[in-house]
Amino acid sequence: MTDPTPTVHESNRKFYDRIADAYDFIADSNEKAARQAGVKALALKPGEAVVELGFGTGNEVLDLAALVGPTGKVAGIDISSGMLAVAQRKLAANPPKTPIDLRVGDARSLPFADASFDAAYTSFTLELFPAGDIPAVLAEARRVLKPGGRLAVVSMSVVPPGEHTSALEKTYVWMHRHFPHLVDCRPIDAPALVAAAGFRVAAREELHIWTMPVAVVVGGR
Ligand SMILES: C[S@@+](CC[C@H](N)C(=O)[O-])C[C@H]1O[C@@H](n2cnc3c(N)ncnc32)[C@H](O)[C@@H]1O
Repeated sequence: MTDPTPTVHESNRKFYDRIADAYDFIADSNEKAARQAGVKALALKPGEAVVELGFGTGNEVLDLAALVGPTGKVAGIDISSGMLAVAQRKLAANPPKTPIDLRVGDARSLPFADASFDAAYTSFTLELFPAGDIPAVLAEARRVLKPGGRLAVVSMSVVPPGEHTSALEKTYVWMHRHFPHLVDCRPIDAPALVAAAGFRVAAREELHIWTMPVAVVVGGR
């Protein structure tokens, strides 16, 4: 794969390796409700196969596994071996009966066969990618989904035109522009990106973390 922006992905990998052990302390309580809304929106059924892009510390891996049950399957990819190690510790402490296949890798190039999943899930990850790479990630999600499969994206969201932008969001965007090594993500227009990748936007919900909008979008393949 030709990589137009190797340094962003390399610095993301190093960043998440460094903060892996502290990640849940930093982010879990703020983001949990939005992550779980995304999982719920996928309406998973027992026996389904689901893949998570950027599984992080594995919180939703456990939730996905509980929903698809022992006859289902959960796979995942994350660029950080540090995050994988934290996720594996959680799984070892509370082993699900569902087969789990978590791998270190890049979501722009998934190591999974075409049409091998019923559903794909990603939370607070798409907004880390440079704008030029987001279509590649979504195209990979689409490739590995079966026809009729669903993709749920949970992401920081741009403020709709005409709505008030909070001071916190303005600060976030400014920090990402000027200090991307400190603030690695920024709001994106997830519904538009999901639609541009060829998905039918089947559901969308807007939540807030503090004052910042978060989108939960489900795209049908
Ligand atoms: C903000 S964390 C979110 C983790 C988890 N989804 C959650 O909501 O708690 C972003 C995750 O994306 C992963 N990541 C960053 N770039 C990636 C890439 N190119 N491919 C796969 N995972 C990536 C990071 O290692 C990190 O675990």
